[in-house]
Amino acid sequence: MESNLTNISLPLTLGLDPITNEPISIDLGKCGNILLAGATKQGKSHCIHNMISRMNALPTPPEMILFDPKRCEFGRYKDRYRVIEDLEDAKHILFEELFENEIIGKRWSSDKDNSPLIIIIDELLDLIFMHKSRSPKHFDDRIRYEAIIKILANGPEHNIYTIISTQSTDKDILTKEILDNCINRIVFRTIYRLDSMRIIKKSGAENLLGRGDAILYQEGNCRKIEWL
Ligand SMILES: Nc1ncnc2c1ncn2[C@@H]1O[C@H](COP(=O)(O)OP(=O)(O)OP(=O)(O)O)[C@@H](O)[C@H]1O
Ligand SMILES: [Mg+2]
Repeated sequence: MESNLTNISLPLTLGLDPITNEPISIDLGKCGNILLAGATKQGKSHCIHNMISRMNALPTPPEMILFDPKRCEFGRYKDRYRVIEDLEDAKHILFEELFENEIIGKRWSSDKDNSPLIIIIDELLDLIFMHKSRSPKHFDDRIRYEAIIKILANGPEHNIYTIISTQSTDKDILTKEILDNCINRIVFRTIYRLDSMRIIKKSGAENLLGRGDAILYQEGNCRKIEWL
């Protein structure tokens, strides 16, 4: 279905280009979903907290829904935003509330509600794989995964943008569907060159320094980020 909605501007300054010293900003309203990937303890959650505080500082902060299946990242935001920790709740909110009601029901049928909504998932792996098989075969795991894909695919044209973080490069988690729907990526240090290849189609992330050292991958181009 065609949409006449115009995407709003949601600028987000990430840091500086270490070579030119120019600010590196992305506009969620233009670039859509963002994937943050890289090995454990390399700075993904730290980066998400920075993004949340920058969005908070915008003249009109967007609404945010924060998925925290590890139950350790977003507790501090509970007063201000919806924080979802429980996987049963997550299934219901992702599929029925966000995809069926919000996207299909409300935004597709009306051009009035165009207010931006940011969905943040900090750790995709834990949101999808409640069941230890680590393969999206279990029914509930499958529903959460498919709802995420539908939201990624259909959200941006209705001003719903998703920021996903994962330490996994497993093909069952960082699937082709996830990669195809998150063409803007921030990669932190990876353990292996092959992980870098999977995330940004190039080697290099295995040589990052850690502690937040990162590369922004946009439209096939890579830029180092020096955080502000
Ligand atoms: N840009 C940064 N500057 C300074 N310290 C940082 C930066 N990014 C991360 N760190 C530090 O590195 C540690 C790990 O960061 P973080 O929790 O963001 O990792 P992560 O990639 O989310 O790991 P996991 O995959 O296990 O969740 C934290 O103690 C954090 O303070
Ligand atoms: Mg983390």
